[in-house]
Amino acid sequence: MKILVLNGPNLNMLGIREPEHYGRETYEDLIQKIDDYCAERGIEAAFFQSNHEGDLVDQIQQAYFDDMDGIVINPGAYTHTSIALLDAVNAVKLPTVEVHISEVEKREDFRQVSYIRRACIATITGLGTDGYLRAVDKLAEVCG
Ligand code: DQA
Repeated sequence: MKILVLNGPNLNMLGIREPEHYGRETYEDLIQKIDDYCAERGIEAAFFQSNHEGDLVDQIQQAYFDDMDGIVINPGAYTHTSIALLDAVNAVKLPTVEVHISEVEKREDFRQVSYIRRACIATITGLGTDGYLRAVDKLAEVCG
């Protein structure tokens, strides 16, 4: 099983940005944690982070051509604005899990909309970086 773990804008700033929402682990810590978790389960994980919407669309499309089995995505603020990411997931039809580190439900009104959610098989919020591991579990359940 091969999965793509995509992170959107400002997630490269983990550990620095608003630790009260996102904790103290860095982006590199996050990647290591997911990679170790996947390796223990025989899952191959590829990682990509971008602050640019089109680059994230390109990666979702590439996942299809690379025969990936599923996608874990934290679209960051693009969650709340991007129809292009929704369209990309609908285009490739790969099982996709939406992850948010913070509990978005308990935050500002503008975070209550998620365009990508309707294309995702599951959404995990408020578990910190463990949410990514739960997303891997979900994909393993569906694709494994
Ligand atoms: C986030 C929540 C979003 O609202 C925010 O814009 C982010 C991170 C999260 O992981 O909790 O950048 O996706």
